[in-house]
Amino acid sequence: MAVIAEKCINIKVTVLDINKEKIDLWNSDDLSLLPVYEPGLKEIVSKVRNKNLFFSSDIEKNIAEADIVFISVNTPTKEKGLGAGYASDLKWVESSARTVAKFAKNHTIVVEKSTLPVRTAELIKKILEESSSLEKSEVNNSFSVLSNPEFLSEGSAINDLRNPDRVLIGGDDKVATSLLSSIYENWIPKEKILLTNLWSSELSKLTANAFLAQRISSINSISALCEATGAEIKEVSGAVGLDKRIGSKFLNSGPGFGGSCFQKDILNLVYICRFYGLNEVADYWESVVSINNWQRRRISSIVIQKLFGTITSKKLAILGFSFKANTNDTRESPAIFISKDLFENGAFLSFHDPKVSESQIKNILDKEVVKQNNQSFEWEYQSDLYDAINSADAVLILTEWFEYSMIDWSKCYKLMRKPAWIFDTRNIVNSSEVKSAGINYWGVGNGS
Ligand code: UGA
Repeated sequence: MAVIAEKCINIKVTVLDINKEKIDLWNSDDLSLLPVYEPGLKEIVSKVRNKNLFFSSDIEKNIAEADIVFISVNTPTKEKGLGAGYASDLKWVESSARTVAKFAKNHTIVVEKSTLPVRTAELIKKILEESSSLEKSEVNNSFSVLSNPEFLSEGSAINDLRNPDRVLIGGDDKVATSLLSSIYENWIPKEKILLTNLWSSELSKLTANAFLAQRISSINSISALCEATGAEIKEVSGAVGLDKRIGSKFLNSGPGFGGSCFQKDILNLVYICRFYGLNEVADYWESVVSINNWQRRRISSIVIQKLFGTITSKKLAILGFSFKANTNDTRESPAIFISKDLFENGAFLSFHDPKVSESQIKNILDKEVVKQNNQSFEWEYQSDLYDAINSADAVLILTEWFEYSMIDWSKCYKLMRKPAWIFDTRNIVNSSEVKSAGINYWGVGNGS
């Protein structure tokens, strides 16, 4: 929405949230307090906030005034009930649709921005239509529902929004689709704006994420084979990616994919396939998630095995807690799962991350690790990277933050307990520098 406001100075954009504290942070004078860290975002906010970009929790007034409402709420995997563990929980989408139905005036275009299971638009339409027929006598309101999934990637969101590969708009109402399209045409060439039917648009979003995640599971499966055979994953992915039909992007082996989207969307796809009786298709996509779980567990087993089969009371420095670089988002971060395994094996963990705070890590560990195991674990948070590494038996690089590729390994050698180990799950450090500093090196997919 910040980018729409930046690119379309004549459009008034208001971001609404029922959480007033969050809105206050978005309105804060101190731009370092914005709830989301995204390179380039605070510059846009400082440029257009209170000009044509507003943040508010006055839901009623702003929905009543709006011509277009984007539903952009979270759709996590259901934890209980029908479809638990697979289906998306649509309670926030449903309550947003009900809120829009209640307050909208005249004709309102409702856009699904959240990633949603196929045919969710039907649910939204139903809620809106029922309400408009109920209240027709008092307020003459009507709705069009469009699907406009978002393809941005965290950490590069602003650039992705300014220069998208494509914009997808699904819907049958020609007037509504061309109005939404005209907003994007302010900065995106028309040939990159794709118009499809509602269901194709919803399904394309899930499919795009499933294909991307599949590439990561594919390369991660080969990383294990490289380690076993003496091949180098970077050489293999470099050679494979040069084939134009395959392409070089998204072939970095790592500790498994994280983030709020891939796993959730694939499980959602699996659920839909099973619903339609397509069990083979469901099994095919589910294996992408299984390989991902396996890759995370594989990393912690290797650490334990290299440290003489035990990590009890050993200090391990965990560098990086976000699910990827350039974001403070930790949802489904591989660091959570790997830390959990290491804690269960008795390790003392020292965390560092340039953008994830100590309290954020504490909340996650309390929820994901302590509560589930009913016991507490030993850990600390260090804001200085070398303090985290001090007296550690091993360093694990779990996020590809740039500063981790610049670490002074000779300095680390002096600080660490011997034999010292580095586990580079992102392949970002220079292995020969590490080895010549006297530190043992393990890199994912590095067989030589
Ligand atoms: C992903 C998609 O890339 C976006 O196109 C999509 O819009 C978004 O989900 C969404 O549905 O909202 P995001 O989750 O922000 O974006 O991040 P990615 O860059 O896709 O990374 C996901 C995970 O895969 C990260 O843990 C990352 O480290 C890992 N990854 C990525 C690899 O392990 N190797 C790679 O080569 C690329």
